[in-house]
Amino acid sequence: MPAPSAATASESPTAHVADLVIFGGTGDLSMRKLLPALYHADRDGRLAPQTRIIAMSRSGLDDSDFRGKVEAEVRPGLHAGDAEGWERFLGRLHHVSVDVGDIQQAGWGALTRLLAGREDIDRIFYLASPPMTFGPFCRAVHEAGLVTPRSRVVLEKPLGRDLAGAQQINDEVGAIFDEHQIFRIDHYLGKETVQNLLVLRFANAFLEPIWNSLWIDHVQITVAESVGTPGRRGYYDHAGALRDMVQNHLLQLLCLVAMEPPARNDREAIRDEKVKVLQALRPISGGEADRFTVRGQYVAGQVDGKDVPGYLDEPDKTAPTEASRRVETFTAIRAEVKNWRWAGVPFYLRTGKRLPHRRSEIVIQFKDVPHSIYPGGSPNRLVLRLQPSEGITLHLMAKEPGAGEVLLRPVPLSLSFADTFRTRVPEAYERLLMDVLAGNPTLFMRRDEVEAAWRWIDPIIATWESGDALPEPYAAGTTGPAAAHELLGRSGRAWHEEDLP
Ligand code: BG6
Repeated sequence: MPAPSAATASESPTAHVADLVIFGGTGDLSMRKLLPALYHADRDGRLAPQTRIIAMSRSGLDDSDFRGKVEAEVRPGLHAGDAEGWERFLGRLHHVSVDVGDIQQAGWGALTRLLAGREDIDRIFYLASPPMTFGPFCRAVHEAGLVTPRSRVVLEKPLGRDLAGAQQINDEVGAIFDEHQIFRIDHYLGKETVQNLLVLRFANAFLEPIWNSLWIDHVQITVAESVGTPGRRGYYDHAGALRDMVQNHLLQLLCLVAMEPPARNDREAIRDEKVKVLQALRPISGGEADRFTVRGQYVAGQVDGKDVPGYLDEPDKTAPTEASRRVETFTAIRAEVKNWRWAGVPFYLRTGKRLPHRRSEIVIQFKDVPHSIYPGGSPNRLVLRLQPSEGITLHLMAKEPGAGEVLLRPVPLSLSFADTFRTRVPEAYERLLMDVLAGNPTLFMRRDEVEAAWRWIDPIIATWESGDALPEPYAAGTTGPAAAHELLGRSGRAWHEEDLP
């Protein structure tokens, strides 16, 4: 198989020619998400011919072992393509064994030789590794002389465990790379419906006039997962749902719902507006954290008709500790955006593991008509479904056909992306990797965004950690602890649970 040779960016009209170095290249994220996304992009002709993918790990594999591993573990899960395309993809793959802590090690020499002569093309370091490796990795590539003016670095979440930790990582990475070279991934921003939310809001005239507290009663953002956390105790005990999901994914969704229209569709304009939303979030701490936040942890139950263990009994290399008993696998929060547009509108956030279904959605619940001339009836609701089956549904009131009395019925007006566009919806990572390769940071988090999110999360964590209370148990396969329902119930509202697949 011929190895692709060096080339300049101008040779490729499709995407910049790049060396994409994945640190943690044989890990779960790389094998499950990054390599499939890169293969699909390649199959669709969106990788420049001379682009190479260089996996780094401590596994001791050579190029041919690594290609064999990808053939065995990645290929079976891919959308079919032709054999020639697969061979071309394999030809892009390389593997270098490196210990990031040891800059004298031979692996660094091997990486340096592999990258030599390609200084004028884009060089991307993708850190698919735990956050404590970000600083040391950046220092190591710098000391090895591998950072070029056209280098970029991609950081996977979580970025720290609190504001101070995030600032430290940002400082360490920022000492080697300029902010415009740093791409902080939140893969929710690559999801099709998430991008469609901006188009829906800012490319249609009818929504914007009613997108405010005069018309909207409240907003719900739910990211429910049916999976548990088997084998993830080492990470999850120290993360929990608030750090793992809310600090990043759910707050990003909230920003896109709540932000003001940006002046331009450009990287800084959109991110500027998102930061303003985060800065306008009403702080929650002390007694308010008890009133406005809920923590839960799943115990044994049934999901999809199968018995599943509770969090503490999930199979794992390590036994549960005190941290395991205290960690939340579910959280619900009543947030508020303190500005003119949203004053008084609650934003309810909810996420959890081992819920009945995998379902992520944003629900915009409109207010009731000011004066109703019909009995029955319920207020309009706009549901943006992120997964599964991406789509948008507007629930309207209609008259039931019939000659008798006028009976109202809520009817869904639905747009299913799959049915309407009849095209494969790309995975979030595919979109984001293509943006990294094109050097477009719009869908990535800026330093001030990440830090503003932590600034809001930190006081909640501090309150939770200062008390003795444990998360409320909920049986796997149910919709979470009772307190999550009370969070809405005490103001006469309820979570949107309809339309489950
Ligand atoms: C990750 C979290 O960021 O997102 C996981 O670390 C979670 O705990 C995952 O399962 C959910 O992503 P998706 O795209 O499957 O909804």
